[in-house]
Amino acid sequence: MSEDKSTVLVTGGAGYIGSHAVLALQKAGYKVVVLDNLVYGHRELVEEVLKVELVVGDTSDRAFLDNLFATHNIAAVMHFAAYTYVGESVTDPGKYYHNNVVGTLTLLSAMVAANVKKFVFSSTCATYGIPEEIPLPETHSQKPINPYGMSKLMVEQILTDFDRAYELKSVRFRYFNAAGADPSGLLGEDHDPETHLIPLVLLTALGKRESIAIFGTDYPTPDGTCLRDYIHVTDLADAHVLGLEYLLKGGETNVFNLGNGNGFSVREVIDTVKKVTGKNFSVVECDRRPGDPPSLVGTSAKARQILGWYPQYTDLNEIIRHAWQWHQQRHG
Ligand SMILES: NC(=O)c1ccc[n+]([C@@H]2O[C@H](COP(=O)([O-])OP(=O)(O)OC[C@H]3O[C@@H](n4cnc5c(N)ncnc54)[C@H](O)[C@@H]3O)[C@@H](O)[C@H]2O)c1
Repeated sequence: MSEDKSTVLVTGGAGYIGSHAVLALQKAGYKVVVLDNLVYGHRELVEEVLKVELVVGDTSDRAFLDNLFATHNIAAVMHFAAYTYVGESVTDPGKYYHNNVVGTLTLLSAMVAANVKKFVFSSTCATYGIPEEIPLPETHSQKPINPYGMSKLMVEQILTDFDRAYELKSVRFRYFNAAGADPSGLLGEDHDPETHLIPLVLLTALGKRESIAIFGTDYPTPDGTCLRDYIHVTDLADAHVLGLEYLLKGGETNVFNLGNGNGFSVREVIDTVKKVTGKNFSVVECDRRPGDPPSLVGTSAKARQILGWYPQYTDLNEIIRHAWQWHQQRHG
């Protein structure tokens, strides 16, 4: 890492995964600038906890981006900024294509103009659609079943084309379900509205919700409930630093799954929350939801082989313990 090429721009750094990536970058010795429009982000996490520069603005504002690149010596961009609600993307696809595709295209165009050509991108397992094999490898077909997944797939295609045309090198990380919180308790997940299973169950344990619903108990899985791959957010953040370093060392454009490798069922998550928190709460069994595959688990062997990424926190108890520590102090 040379002196004048050490600043990393983190878009969406006031959000859940982005804020953990900022912490991992700081620990690895990088200078960080956060760009966030604060639609969903938390100013105090950036300014008071992480204590890094926060530039409030939008990725679709080209003049703002040109000024940002002109005034900061940015070596690379980690791009977390996006809208992430799958259901909303179905009812309001324009919002998702505008923010996730047009916003990213504007950012990439500003990068090319500023000659910044290293890009780490938050893609998703939602680009795969309905799994044809489990665990899912990166070579699995990509047939997203909602506009959110499609918006991320479109960006993956744009990145392929930007490499060919402008030599902009990217690492695309297709994450499975980000979960947990930094073990320090300083950072964690705080989405509003919240749609992710683990925080919803924890909010139920805290008495902030009346009950937790299980959608479908008759799936062809060991306990009849859906299996998902939960990857600790600190492990995700560490992978981003490795992906950045891979690019800074001259690595070619590449794609990696980031997952735990183990599937945990909805019922297992609920039972583990009860065990970790010592709280009992009401669980309501409901019908299946359309579009939920029985199992969504990936293989991250490629990230291990090429990036040397070894997740530290693969145990569900530990993931939930860290999340619980954060939720108690944030919402308790
Ligand atoms: N959370 C998951 O399990 C998961 C799984 C797969 C992929 N991802 C991807 O990871 C990324 C981060 O997810 P997250 O859960 O941390 O979401 P988040 O909502 O907590 O963080 C996103 C941040 O981006 C900001 N933002 C959104 N649009 C912006 C724009 N146009 N300009 C500037 N800032 C903007 C928001 O204010 C927010 O702070 C997203 O791209 C998401 O699609 C997340």
